[in-house]
Amino acid sequence: MGGGERPKAPVPRSIGAPGDRLSELPFLGEPPAESTYAPRRRARAGAVIDLHTHILPGVDDGARDLVESLRIARACVADGVTAVAATPHVREDYPTRFATISRAVEQLRQALGDAGVDLTVHTGAEVAVDQLRLLGAEELLRLALAGRRYLLVECPYYGWPARLFDELDALGHLGLRPILAHPERNADVASAPELLRPLVDAGVLVQVTAVSVVGALGRSPRQAAHSLLRSELAHLIASDAHSPGLRRAGLAAAAASVKDRALAHWLTVDVPAAVVAGTDPPLRPRPRRLFGRYSERIR
Ligand SMILES: [Fe+2]
Repeated sequence: MGGGERPKAPVPRSIGAPGDRLSELPFLGEPPAESTYAPRRRARAGAVIDLHTHILPGVDDGARDLVESLRIARACVADGVTAVAATPHVREDYPTRFATISRAVEQLRQALGDAGVDLTVHTGAEVAVDQLRLLGAEELLRLALAGRRYLLVECPYYGWPARLFDELDALGHLGLRPILAHPERNADVASAPELLRPLVDAGVLVQVTAVSVVGALGRSPRQAAHSLLRSELAHLIASDAHSPGLRRAGLAAAAASVKDRALAHWLTVDVPAAVVAGTDPPLRPRPRRLFGRYSERIR
């Protein structure tokens, strides 16, 4: 599939549309971790929020211990980030549950406070596609980013699940809106970005990873990430930080490489703020007119 031709899409129904079932669920909006261990302050206006990190100590393949968690946190702050979502893997090899995440987030918040690191930590998870059917509705709802209504779903690196649309659509019936993590690293998407169009048309948000955007993972992920950005198939940039090293942060560098200040702000500030608040994302800024002034002059 190429040349801008769109794949035959399933009927673009809305996935995770606002309202409805959310209000029927008693713990939504006041999730256990966020209410018991409230973030130390509300998100600041214009704050950069990183919604994909493996910052929790000893939970998955991210930070090994609290010392490393604090190093990642300091790297985030140095990069201009004011809040992160802790999103450990929930998949076959790391069957993390919300109770573990909640405890680890509380531990990290206390350590950050003790160390004087000014970083807000929200709860979250990165859930593998094959786990969506195995986890109960209540657990899935608790795993939502900041306990609201967006769920980060890990895009497979290899192959394209035939039932992906249906799996994400099922989340919509729970009142959850999926965010697909780093699809630019999937070879099928890299060669045919329009694979994502039916999902985006149905309301799925797409997160690209900072190191892909800046090119640190190589040419193919960089081209794919920028193709998704150009085609309006990406809504967020996040770090997917696993350590203080390569994948630690880089949101500032990624925002700079977008070369459109309004769009970069939308990707790193405006949309993440809406996700944390559980509201709909604001409209994407209009594309920058590179030759606007010149074309007016020669008209
Ligand atoms: Fe991740």
